[in-house]
Amino acid sequence: MPELLTVNGLEKNFKGLKAVNGFSAKLSENQIYGLIGTNGAGKTTVINMLSGVLKPSAGSVFFRGIEITGERPDKIAKLGILRTYQNLRLFKKVSVLQNVMIGAQIDKSYSNIEAILGMTRFRQEERKLEEKALNMLELMGIEDYAKERADSLPYGAQRKLEIARILAASPKLLLLDEPAAGLNPQESLELVQRLKKIREEFELAILLIEHDMKVVMSLCEYIYAMAAGQIIAEGEPKVIREDPKVIEAYLGRAKKDA
Ligand SMILES: Nc1ncnc2c1ncn2[C@@H]1O[C@H](COP(=O)(O)OP(=O)(O)OP(=O)(O)O)[C@@H](O)[C@H]1O
Ligand SMILES: [Mg+2]
Repeated sequence: MPELLTVNGLEKNFKGLKAVNGFSAKLSENQIYGLIGTNGAGKTTVINMLSGVLKPSAGSVFFRGIEITGERPDKIAKLGILRTYQNLRLFKKVSVLQNVMIGAQIDKSYSNIEAILGMTRFRQEERKLEEKALNMLELMGIEDYAKERADSLPYGAQRKLEIARILAASPKLLLLDEPAAGLNPQESLELVQRLKKIREEFELAILLIEHDMKVVMSLCEYIYAMAAGQIIAEGEPKVIREDPKVIEAYLGRAKKDA
Protein backbone atom coordinates (compact mmCIF):
# COMPACT_ATOMS: atom_id res chain seq x y z
CA MET A 1 0.00 0.00 0.00
CA PRO A 2 1.53 3.38 -0.96
CA GLU A 3 2.41 5.60 1.95
CA LEU A 4 0.44 8.79 2.40
CA LEU A 5 1.57 10.32 5.66
CA THR A 6 4.66 9.60 7.75
CA VAL A 7 4.87 11.10 11.22
CA ASN A 8 8.11 10.81 13.18
CA GLY A 9 8.42 11.59 16.89
CA LEU A 10 6.03 14.52 16.96
CA GLU A 11 6.14 16.57 20.17
CA LYS A 12 4.31 19.60 21.51
CA ASN A 13 5.21 21.42 24.70
CA PHE A 14 2.93 24.00 26.28
CA LYS A 15 4.93 25.85 28.93
CA GLY A 16 6.26 22.79 30.68
CA LEU A 17 3.39 20.48 29.76
CA LYS A 18 4.33 17.82 27.23
CA ALA A 19 0.92 17.57 25.59
CA VAL A 20 2.34 15.29 22.90
CA ASN A 21 5.50 13.44 23.70
CA GLY A 22 6.59 11.35 20.73
CA PHE A 23 3.83 10.53 18.27
CA SER A 24 4.86 8.44 15.26
CA ALA A 25 2.56 6.94 12.64
CA LYS A 26 2.47 5.71 9.07
CA LEU A 27 -0.80 6.19 7.20
CA SER A 28 -1.56 4.55 3.86
CA GLU A 29 -3.88 5.70 1.10
CA ASN A 30 -7.48 4.59 1.26
CA GLN A 31 -7.43 3.42 4.89
CA ILE A 32 -9.38 4.50 7.95
CA TYR A 33 -7.43 5.10 11.15
CA GLY A 34 -8.66 5.77 14.66
CA LEU A 35 -6.98 7.93 17.29
CA ILE A 36 -8.31 7.15 20.74
CA GLY A 37 -7.40 8.07 24.28
CA THR A 38 -8.90 9.60 27.40
CA ASN A 39 -9.51 13.32 27.82
CA GLY A 40 -6.33 15.36 27.59
CA ALA A 41 -4.29 12.51 26.06
CA GLY A 42 -3.07 14.81 23.29
CA LYS A 43 -5.27 13.68 20.38
CA THR A 44 -6.47 17.11 19.22
CA THR A 45 -2.95 18.48 19.61
CA VAL A 46 -1.73 15.79 17.17
CA ILE A 47 -4.35 16.83 14.60
CA ASN A 48 -3.52 20.48 15.23
CA MET A 49 0.09 19.76 14.33
CA LEU A 50 -0.74 17.60 11.30
CA SER A 51 -3.04 20.31 9.92
CA GLY A 52 -0.59 23.16 10.61
CA VAL A 53 -2.70 24.86 13.29
CA LEU A 54 0.13 24.31 15.79
CA LYS A 55 3.84 24.12 15.07
CA PRO A 56 5.45 20.98 16.51
CA SER A 57 8.13 21.42 19.19
CA ALA A 58 9.96 18.45 17.66
CA GLY A 59 9.49 15.71 15.10
CA SER A 60 8.61 15.66 11.42
CA VAL A 61 5.68 15.07 9.08
CA PHE A 62 5.91 13.96 5.46
CA PHE A 63 2.97 13.88 3.06
CA ARG A 64 3.60 11.72 0.00
CA GLY A 65 7.30 12.12 0.61
CA ILE A 66 7.19 15.93 0.91
CA GLU A 67 8.11 17.41 4.28
CA ILE A 68 5.28 19.52 5.66
CA THR A 69 6.48 19.92 9.25
CA GLY A 70 5.39 23.30 10.61
CA GLU A 71 3.85 24.44 7.30
CA ARG A 72 0.91 26.85 7.32
CA PRO A 73 -2.62 25.39 7.47
CA ASP A 74 -3.61 26.77 4.05
CA LYS A 75 -0.59 25.16 2.39
CA ILE A 76 -1.32 21.82 4.06
CA ALA A 77 -4.99 22.07 3.04
CA LYS A 78 -4.00 22.73 -0.56
CA LEU A 79 -1.98 19.51 -0.57
CA GLY A 80 -5.16 17.66 0.39
CA ILE A 81 -5.06 17.33 4.17
CA LEU A 82 -8.36 18.69 5.45
CA ARG A 83 -9.70 18.72 8.98
CA THR A 84 -12.78 19.28 11.07
CA TYR A 85 -12.85 20.72 14.58
CA GLN A 86 -14.02 19.23 17.86
CA ASN A 87 -16.22 22.31 18.26
CA LEU A 88 -18.05 23.09 15.05
CA ARG A 89 -16.68 25.95 12.96
CA LEU A 90 -19.28 26.69 10.32
CA PHE A 91 -20.15 29.99 8.68
CA LYS A 92 -23.30 30.29 10.73
CA LYS A 93 -25.12 33.02 8.89
CA VAL A 94 -24.72 31.77 5.32
CA SER A 95 -26.57 28.92 3.68
CA VAL A 96 -25.61 25.27 3.93
CA LEU A 97 -24.80 25.23 0.21
CA GLN A 98 -22.61 28.32 0.47
CA ASN A 99 -20.73 26.78 3.37
CA VAL A 100 -19.76 23.88 1.12
CA MET A 101 -18.99 26.16 -1.83
CA ILE A 102 -16.61 28.13 0.35
CA GLY A 103 -15.02 24.83 1.42
CA ALA A 104 -14.40 23.96 -2.22
CA GLN A 105 -12.48 27.21 -2.67
CA ILE A 106 -9.69 26.28 -0.31
CA ASP A 107 -7.14 26.63 -3.12
CA LYS A 108 -8.53 29.90 -4.46
CA SER A 109 -8.03 33.49 -3.45
CA TYR A 110 -10.26 35.28 -1.00
CA SER A 111 -11.83 37.37 -3.77
CA ASN A 112 -13.39 34.19 -5.16
CA ILE A 113 -15.01 33.56 -1.83
CA GLU A 114 -16.44 37.07 -1.92
CA ALA A 115 -17.72 36.33 -5.40
CA ILE A 116 -19.66 33.34 -4.16
CA LEU A 117 -21.28 35.44 -1.51
CA GLY A 118 -22.54 38.16 -3.80
CA MET A 119 -21.10 39.20 -7.12
CA THR A 120 -22.46 37.73 -10.34
CA ARG A 121 -19.34 37.95 -12.49
CA PHE A 122 -18.34 34.37 -11.93
CA ARG A 123 -21.67 32.82 -12.84
CA GLN A 124 -20.39 29.85 -14.78
CA GLU A 125 -17.73 28.88 -12.32
CA GLU A 126 -20.26 29.41 -9.61
CA ARG A 127 -22.69 26.99 -11.19
CA LYS A 128 -20.07 24.27 -11.44
CA LEU A 129 -19.13 24.87 -7.87
CA GLU A 130 -22.75 24.74 -6.82
CA GLU A 131 -23.19 21.39 -8.51
CA LYS A 132 -20.16 19.99 -6.74
CA ALA A 133 -21.36 21.36 -3.42
CA LEU A 134 -24.79 19.78 -3.91
CA ASN A 135 -23.10 16.46 -4.61
CA MET A 136 -21.27 16.67 -1.29
CA LEU A 137 -24.50 17.50 0.53
CA GLU A 138 -26.12 14.45 -1.05
CA LEU A 139 -23.21 12.25 0.02
CA MET A 140 -23.76 13.39 3.59
CA GLY A 141 -27.55 13.17 3.26
CA ILE A 142 -28.28 16.81 4.02
CA GLU A 143 -29.23 18.10 0.57
CA ASP A 144 -32.72 19.04 1.77
CA TYR A 145 -31.14 21.72 3.93
CA ALA A 146 -29.16 23.31 1.07
CA LYS A 147 -30.90 26.69 1.21
CA GLU A 148 -31.21 26.90 5.01
CA ARG A 149 -28.91 28.98 7.16
CA ALA A 150 -26.19 26.77 8.62
CA ASP A 151 -27.05 27.63 12.22
CA SER A 152 -30.69 26.66 11.74
CA LEU A 153 -29.79 22.99 11.21
CA PRO A 154 -30.22 20.31 13.86
CA TYR A 155 -26.90 19.56 15.56
CA GLY A 156 -26.37 16.20 13.81
CA ALA A 157 -26.84 17.82 10.42
CA GLN A 158 -24.33 20.56 11.31
CA ARG A 159 -21.73 17.90 12.06
CA LYS A 160 -22.44 16.33 8.65
CA LEU A 161 -22.16 19.74 7.02
CA GLU A 162 -18.67 20.17 8.44
CA ILE A 163 -17.62 16.99 6.68
CA ALA A 164 -19.41 17.93 3.43
CA ARG A 165 -17.51 21.21 3.47
CA ILE A 166 -14.07 19.65 3.63
CA LEU A 167 -15.02 16.95 1.11
CA ALA A 168 -15.62 19.70 -1.42
CA ALA A 169 -11.93 20.60 -1.24
CA SER A 170 -10.92 17.26 -2.85
CA PRO A 171 -9.09 15.85 0.17
CA LYS A 172 -6.60 13.00 0.17
CA LEU A 173 -6.62 12.75 3.94
CA LEU A 174 -9.43 13.72 6.29
CA LEU A 175 -8.60 14.51 9.88
CA LEU A 176 -11.85 14.33 11.85
CA ASP A 177 -11.90 15.48 15.46
CA GLU A 178 -14.77 13.61 17.16
CA PRO A 179 -17.20 13.62 14.24
CA ALA A 180 -19.78 11.60 16.21
CA ALA A 181 -19.68 13.76 19.34
CA GLY A 182 -23.21 14.68 20.38
CA LEU A 183 -24.85 12.31 17.89
CA ASN A 184 -27.40 9.74 19.04
CA PRO A 185 -26.63 6.03 18.39
CA GLN A 186 -28.68 5.95 15.21
CA GLU A 187 -26.98 9.07 13.83
CA SER A 188 -23.57 7.64 14.74
CA LEU A 189 -24.32 4.44 12.86
CA GLU A 190 -25.44 6.43 9.85
CA LEU A 191 -22.25 8.49 9.98
CA VAL A 192 -20.16 5.30 9.98
CA GLN A 193 -21.97 4.08 6.84
CA ARG A 194 -21.50 7.42 5.10
CA LEU A 195 -17.80 7.63 5.93
CA LYS A 196 -17.28 4.10 4.58
CA LYS A 197 -18.99 5.08 1.36
CA ILE A 198 -17.00 8.29 1.08
CA ARG A 199 -13.73 6.43 1.53
CA GLU A 200 -14.69 4.09 -1.31
CA GLU A 201 -15.90 6.82 -3.61
CA PHE A 202 -12.99 9.22 -3.14
CA GLU A 203 -10.29 6.66 -2.27
CA LEU A 204 -9.12 8.84 0.55
CA ALA A 205 -7.63 8.13 3.95
CA ILE A 206 -9.26 9.15 7.21
CA LEU A 207 -7.76 9.66 10.65
CA LEU A 208 -10.48 10.15 13.20
CA ILE A 209 -10.46 10.96 16.86
CA GLU A 210 -13.44 9.36 18.53
CA HIS A 211 -14.62 8.46 22.02
CA ASP A 212 -17.50 6.31 20.79
CA MET A 213 -15.96 2.83 20.71
CA LYS A 214 -18.75 1.44 18.53
CA VAL A 215 -17.86 3.99 15.88
CA VAL A 216 -14.12 3.40 16.21
CA MET A 217 -14.32 -0.39 16.18
CA SER A 218 -16.74 -0.63 13.25
CA LEU A 219 -15.05 1.98 11.09
CA CYS A 220 -11.29 1.85 11.65
CA GLU A 221 -8.87 -0.66 10.20
CA TYR A 222 -6.03 0.44 12.43
CA ILE A 223 -6.05 2.30 15.73
CA TYR A 224 -3.56 4.43 17.65
CA ALA A 225 -4.28 4.66 21.37
CA MET A 226 -2.79 7.55 23.33
CA ALA A 227 -2.36 8.36 27.01
CA ALA A 228 -0.48 11.32 28.49
CA GLY A 229 0.92 12.44 25.15
CA GLN A 230 2.23 9.06 24.05
CA ILE A 231 1.08 6.14 21.97
CA ILE A 232 0.43 3.29 24.40
CA ALA A 233 -0.82 0.79 21.81
CA GLU A 234 -1.47 0.52 18.10
CA GLY A 235 -2.96 -2.12 15.84
CA GLU A 236 -6.14 -3.60 14.47
CA PRO A 237 -9.37 -3.10 16.44
CA LYS A 238 -9.32 -6.59 17.91
CA VAL A 239 -5.78 -6.08 19.20
CA ILE A 240 -6.59 -2.68 20.71
CA ARG A 241 -9.76 -3.95 22.36
CA GLU A 242 -7.75 -6.51 24.30
CA ASP A 243 -4.65 -4.46 25.03
CA PRO A 244 -4.06 -4.29 28.81
CA LYS A 245 -2.72 -0.72 28.69
CA VAL A 246 -5.76 0.48 26.75
CA ILE A 247 -8.12 -1.29 29.11
CA GLU A 248 -6.34 0.19 32.09
CA ALA A 249 -6.41 3.72 30.66
CA TYR A 250 -10.16 3.48 30.10
CA LEU A 251 -11.01 1.64 33.30
CA GLY A 252 -8.82 4.05 35.23
CA ARG A 253 -10.87 6.90 33.93
CA ALA A 254 -14.14 5.11 34.62
CA LYS A 255 -13.09 4.62 38.25
CA LYS A 256 -12.08 8.24 38.61
CA ASP A 257 -15.36 9.45 37.11
CA ALA A 258 -17.45 7.13 39.27
N1 LIG B 1 -3.15 25.70 23.34
C1 LIG B 1 -2.87 25.05 24.49
N2 LIG B 1 -2.19 25.65 25.48
C2 LIG B 1 -1.88 24.98 26.63
N3 LIG B 1 -2.24 23.71 26.87
C3 LIG B 1 -2.93 23.06 25.92
C4 LIG B 1 -3.29 23.69 24.68
N4 LIG B 1 -3.97 22.79 23.92
C5 LIG B 1 -4.05 21.68 24.65
N5 LIG B 1 -3.43 21.82 25.85
C6 LIG B 1 -3.28 20.79 26.87
O1 LIG B 1 -2.63 19.68 26.26
C7 LIG B 1 -3.18 18.46 26.73
C8 LIG B 1 -3.71 17.67 25.54
O2 LIG B 1 -4.84 18.34 25.02
P1 LIG B 1 -5.67 17.82 23.77
O3 LIG B 1 -6.71 18.83 23.50
O4 LIG B 1 -4.74 17.49 22.69
O5 LIG B 1 -6.32 16.49 24.36
P2 LIG B 1 -7.39 15.51 23.71
O6 LIG B 1 -6.79 14.16 23.73
O7 LIG B 1 -7.85 16.04 22.41
O8 LIG B 1 -8.56 15.54 24.79
P3 LIG B 1 -10.17 15.52 24.61
O9 LIG B 1 -10.55 14.08 24.46
O10 LIG B 1 -10.66 16.08 25.90
O11 LIG B 1 -10.53 16.36 23.45
C9 LIG B 1 -4.24 18.83 27.76
O12 LIG B 1 -3.65 18.77 29.04
C10 LIG B 1 -4.60 20.25 27.38
O13 LIG B 1 -5.06 20.96 28.51
MG1 LIG C 1 -9.65 16.73 21.70
